[in-house]
Amino acid sequence: MAFQRPTGTEDRLPAQQAAWNYVTERAERVVAQYGYGRIDTPTFEETALFVRGVGEGTDLIEQETYTFADRGGNRLTLRSEGTAPTMRAYLQDGLQSLPTPLRLYYVAPIFRYDRPQKGRLREHHQVGLEAIGEADAAMDAEVISVLARIFREIGLRQVSMQLNSIGDDQCRPAYLEQLVAYYRPRIDQACANCQVRLEKNPLRLLDCKEERCQPLIAAAPKPVEALCGPCAEHFARLQHLLGLLAVPYTLNPRLVRGLGYYTRTVFEFYTTERGAQSALGGGGRYDGLIAELGGRPTPAVGFGAGIERWLLALEEQGVAVPEEPGPDAYICHLGVEAQDWALQLATRLRSAGLRIVTTPGQRKLPAQFRQAEHYRARYAVIIGSEEAARQVATLRDMTNKAERRDLTDDELLHALRSASAGNGT
Ligand code: HAM
Repeated sequence: MAFQRPTGTEDRLPAQQAAWNYVTERAERVVAQYGYGRIDTPTFEETALFVRGVGEGTDLIEQETYTFADRGGNRLTLRSEGTAPTMRAYLQDGLQSLPTPLRLYYVAPIFRYDRPQKGRLREHHQVGLEAIGEADAAMDAEVISVLARIFREIGLRQVSMQLNSIGDDQCRPAYLEQLVAYYRPRIDQACANCQVRLEKNPLRLLDCKEERCQPLIAAAPKPVEALCGPCAEHFARLQHLLGLLAVPYTLNPRLVRGLGYYTRTVFEFYTTERGAQSALGGGGRYDGLIAELGGRPTPAVGFGAGIERWLLALEEQGVAVPEEPGPDAYICHLGVEAQDWALQLATRLRSAGLRIVTTPGQRKLPAQFRQAEHYRARYAVIIGSEEAARQVATLRDMTNKAERRDLTDDELLHALRSASAGNGT
């Protein structure tokens, strides 16, 4: 084969579109129920936006972005996450003047030079949500509830959520000092990556998966033990609300997440069935990001969730996704005169809003029936040369093979329309 798709990317074939549409339509229905409006931002942004937003020292910025110079010498990066671009648009497009909280969502491709494996792609797609301008824990609870509801609506079972608070600019600096002071004399017991983390991004020390680092992490001070009063209150209120809303969660004092902008709440949803690539979505609060990007200090909270991972989980759990309906009719013709009439009839039926597929050349009737089955057409319309002369046709129900003969185009239209309405399509 001459060309292959790039490593870590996927083709989405016609047969896979039904599942894709099923999950994205349901997710969009849920976010609309809560009042979120869609935003679309460009596929690439100035590189500096991600560096500033996500933070130097994060794996995403240091190792995973698709960054290039265009022919004008501009440094650009393919969308490597959805939050920084959404905040850029919020600031640039005057959305600050709208009443708060401003509730936004997106469905967008995300590009990361990740090590590809099942469920980990170099181009994946996220449904993301951002609620801007509200510091109250009720906003965090809403954002988390939306994602929990999406998973329920698409039929995913065995989903669990982990929750933590990592403090804010009041309490985090002192906590980080404590963490570094704990690690520094013990760093030769840690893996090579953790030695780098200690210098660049100490919070991520808690996230290391290496066996040899586990005893160190277990005994390390945790952010939640060092929260200042307001952060502790916020976290307690959030837990109270999640309890009220019946959203189950597990507290995980080691959960820190990979992006640099989080403050206070962080959370991640997992399927309990799979191993490493089981994160179905995650997010948190990022009260400092908008100011970091040049806006007025504005609190915000959101999530991003990987659609491909949802689909994998649905497949693994054997959840049947409803098929999309086939065309209302497949028109079969026999001979050139019949073809002329078939094509005119198809045009007329499509103008009336029906979905009609025709045979382009001349084929035997059984071959045309096989096509009708392949398209999952509810009906076949059969036109022979004698019928074409009289401008009538036979209507064949593909499920029980029952036929009605000599229908005029009006009668066909009526029959197909009532079947289509009965189908709920
Ligand atoms: P993130 O945790 O980097 O967060 O990504 C969110 C979700 O995207 C993950 O939980 C996972 O489902 C999916 N995902 C991430 N990387 C891949 C990959 N390589 N292949 C397949 N799926 C992947 C963010 O991106 C934040 N912007 C979320 C957020 C929004 N926080 C606040 N607002």
